[in-house]
Amino acid sequence: MWDYSDKVKDHFFNPRNVGEVPDADAVGDVGNIACGDALRLTLKIDNDRISDAKFQTFGCGSAIAAASALTEILKGKTMDEAEKITNQDIADYLDGLPEAKMHCSVMGEEALEAAIANYRGIEIAPCEEGAIICKCFKVTDTVIEKVIKENGLSTIDQVTHYTKAGGGCKSCHPDIQEIIDRVTGAGEAETPKPQPAKKMSNIKKMKLIQETIDNEISPALKQNGSDVELEDIDGNTVYVSLHGSCTENPNTRATTRSTVESRLRELVTEELVVEETA
Ligand code: FES
Repeated sequence: MWDYSDKVKDHFFNPRNVGEVPDADAVGDVGNIACGDALRLTLKIDNDRISDAKFQTFGCGSAIAAASALTEILKGKTMDEAEKITNQDIADYLDGLPEAKMHCSVMGEEALEAAIANYRGIEIAPCEEGAIICKCFKVTDTVIEKVIKENGLSTIDQVTHYTKAGGGCKSCHPDIQEIIDRVTGAGEAETPKPQPAKKMSNIKKMKLIQETIDNEISPALKQNGSDVELEDIDGNTVYVSLHGSCTENPNTRATTRSTVESRLRELVTEELVVEETA
């Protein structure tokens, strides 16, 4: 598992400013629940200064910590000051995030940008800016270029850690490499060889699945009144039962199952398939 700072743990276990600001002056929605992460940021703004900020998220512990940190950073800032906040500021506030979790800070920055655009009456159509490069996670070339420039990234792995792009089927890796080469000017850069899947013993895999469900997925689902329980593991098939609000509607239920699956594939091994017990 990752080495989280005390501040990340504190903001995960005691998130600040959870919920929605009543009569919000700015709302920023980002992410896609089907991809495992979604964040809503709401702001109250008085005389161009942020007097209150709250968040709701469906994401892992780092996403909760990053969103909580963002709301703390934002309070008292003018909109011009808020506009200058980057994902690195969010990570710095938390005394750092594991690189594999930097996409959580990027999601915070994107939610802030969306909220500022909303406050200023600027319409941002999703995916309008740029072409989708990673179909698995719906990440555009504009987003990839931005994180490469802002964070000095130079490898596909880093882009995956910051945006999730490339973290699924990997078919977008050549396109991501092309963007890296273009942005960094490293036209001759070698395409990093794909990392071989880590061999994991069955016992270790089962333990990691249980830990991931208990520590990452279940707490995130509980935020939205849902939950998941591990029922059984047979090879790479993980049997779970879903509970709470996600079971009220077949679409939400299917999305939640697919989110649990994508989370486990991301955090344990890509070979896993999640099925609901009857
Ligand atoms: S298209 Fe990017 S990982 Fe599948």
